[in-house]
Amino acid sequence: MKVLITGGVGYIGSHTAVKLIDDGHDVTLLDNHSNSSPQALAAVRGVVGRHVPFELGDMGDGAFLDAVLAAGGFDAVVHFAAFKAVAESCAAPLPYYRNNVSATVCLLERMAARGVRALVFSSSATVYGNPSTVPIAEASPLAPVNPYGHTKLAVENLLRALCAADSRWRVSILRYFNPIGAHPSGLIGEAPQGTPNNLLPYVAQVAAGRRERLRVFGNDYPTPDGTCVRDYIHVMDLAAGHALALEHLFDRPGVNIHNLGTGRGHSVLEVVRAFETASGRAVPYDVVDRRSGDVATSYADPSRARDELRWTAQHDLHRMCEDQWRWQSKHPNGYD
Ligand code: NAD
Ligand code: UFG
Repeated sequence: MKVLITGGVGYIGSHTAVKLIDDGHDVTLLDNHSNSSPQALAAVRGVVGRHVPFELGDMGDGAFLDAVLAAGGFDAVVHFAAFKAVAESCAAPLPYYRNNVSATVCLLERMAARGVRALVFSSSATVYGNPSTVPIAEASPLAPVNPYGHTKLAVENLLRALCAADSRWRVSILRYFNPIGAHPSGLIGEAPQGTPNNLLPYVAQVAAGRRERLRVFGNDYPTPDGTCVRDYIHVMDLAAGHALALEHLFDRPGVNIHNLGTGRGHSVLEVVRAFETASGRAVPYDVVDRRSGDVATSYADPSRARDELRWTAQHDLHRMCEDQWRWQSKHPNGYD
């Protein structure tokens, strides 16, 4: 298949690009480098050992997109490009709605105009908000609790409406749980700018000595050790999920929605211990107050993806930490 990947130089996009290229697809990456770098693009090319076509530009720029789509002859688009920091979305919702919603409208308009009506969309477990029960199945209530989550739900709703209005569209909505880890080569991985918001990059930087101590946000949750429980999933398992979703798109018109998670939850302290074992380094921490907006426990019911896509996560927490550590050790300052 000829596939355009928006946000293809970012964390999940770059790993998915490598997987799709390994599977024999003809891939073009599109990115404006708002949260990635030319070095990451060079690293993707290094992993696959060949030139990978790249379009530098903004997805909200209709003329740019039109030119890319006109020249490309694409069968499908895998759409990662978005902003993703929850706290930032609370402080500045307008750029989040512009980049995550308006720019997606622009992409869909230009795709329709060029007759490309197959899309895989990066959604998030954040659309479930505070789940009333776990594991979380796709039919669970959708009730995001922050602007970032609302932008993901807005795009999901738009995609549902689009498929209801025009049966030629084929859409896969993938709701990721907590992606971590890196490509086993250690050549590509997550390179957050500034202080990491998410647990694993922070833990990895503490293990590497780049930061002194982890702050564990709360140990008084109703969980076995009092710290929050999440469904961590290896980024290469996510990439494999995209490859299968893409294949299945062509047997399944309309909207298809799948959780991508392992179905297993791990607490913050379990992650710290697993990382210490995988890295052989200590990860000192202090327990501090809860972080606002965190839910106690979130993990997926991944059975629909297993039954419909024949997808299951293959990597356990130890392997996720090993691969994250290999990337961290080889790239103490990210791609810089
Ligand atoms: P990322 O920031 O590493 O990658 C996103 C990429 O998109 C970046 O390279 C950025 O430069 C690019 N981009 C952003 N806006 C753009 C625009 N207007 N035009 C062109 N390029 C643009 O993020 P990621 O972790 O790889 O996440 C990818 C997708 O998955 C996002 O949609 C995110 O919301 C979703 N998601 C991520 C997580 C997570 O924990 N990482 C969890 C659930 C869902
Ligand atoms: N945590 C710490 N210390 C830190 C960072 C995180 O204790 O320095 C804790 C958090 O309190 C939480 C757990 O580690 O209990 C995981 O936190 P992350 O920030 O790594 O992940 P979240 O589950 O909060 O959210 C992530 C993404 C969201 C996405 C969600 C579900 O940031 O965008 O996964 O996919 F919606």
